[in-house]
Amino acid sequence: MPSKRLLSGMQPTGGAGLHIGNLEGALRQWVRLQDEYEMYCCIVDWHALTTMYDNTEAIAPKAREVAAEYIAGGLDPQKCAIFLQSHVKEHAELHLLLSMVTPLGWLERVPTFKEKRDMLDERGGGDESVSYGLLGYPVLQAADILAYRAHAVPVGKDQAAHLELSREIARRFNRLYGEVFPEPQAVINEMTAVVPGLDGRKMSKSLGNAIYLSDDADTVAKKVMSAFTTPTKIKKTDPGVPENCVVCQLRRLYDPENYSLAWEECRSGARGCVQSKRELIEILNAELEPIRRRRKELLDDLAQLEEILRQGAERARATAADTMTAVRQAMKLR
Ligand code: TRP
Repeated sequence: MPSKRLLSGMQPTGGAGLHIGNLEGALRQWVRLQDEYEMYCCIVDWHALTTMYDNTEAIAPKAREVAAEYIAGGLDPQKCAIFLQSHVKEHAELHLLLSMVTPLGWLERVPTFKEKRDMLDERGGGDESVSYGLLGYPVLQAADILAYRAHAVPVGKDQAAHLELSREIARRFNRLYGEVFPEPQAVINEMTAVVPGLDGRKMSKSLGNAIYLSDDADTVAKKVMSAFTTPTKIKKTDPGVPENCVVCQLRRLYDPENYSLAWEECRSGARGCVQSKRELIEILNAELEPIRRRRKELLDDLAQLEEILRQGAERARATAADTMTAVRQAMKLR
């Protein structure tokens, strides 16, 4: 059993679940990390409440879908504990205790707080839509990480400020009460594949340019047929620029052994975009089909998925409960 611990967190929010940008940019890395670390994958349903407090019924089904997609994408519940944050109450206790040693000013300065405050404002919620819980979002995240005394957290750029705050909270706690927490380190994804979206911008849920794990083969085909290619390649014989073409980029990502011939034919005008799209559809669907099938099996047997989550929470709770014993002792709470 590896001795270093790693915690990853994902929010059960948003529309269609994971897209292939998440799959290539994050999940593939986690699948590798599960062999190197004692790994905890937490689906942070309480965090979702910070923005979905008026739509809570959507959270629980979404959490199951996220779990199914992570498992279908290769996380192995035997190797890593996959669980819901709300199933492990230790997160709440630690959040409360950490909130007492987190200066208000640290939280007010977090850039994501300002962004979310403005977003809720634009939704027309007014002053009362910004809760105490939203301000405390990074403290809850620190509790998620520190409850496992995690050494490592895989994070993207967008989470750097949150992780830094977790480290500061850990340091402050250790200074006040003695060494309980290691400072969690960011695991940067060295093999990051930035997956282009269908319109050439970065693939993103909010831009409407994504291919989802939940898309069926026909939907994938339709989306690929609509993807941006070289704007000046109108006729098949016009030269293409594969470096600037979404279809060619995806081809390289999903067909790393053989893409170069297709690229040369595109460049020389020996092939047109329609042929490139048809071939990409075949390649993508072959790659996604096993994930799609596994995802569906898991969601068709919710009782089994519930059991996986129950066992994950049990393993997580054992570790988190140990930490809480150390925390209470350090704080002289009895
Ligand atoms: N804030 C993270 C996000 O939006 C989710 C998250 C919550 C998280 N707790 C975490 C990520 C702990 C890593 C570790 O993606």
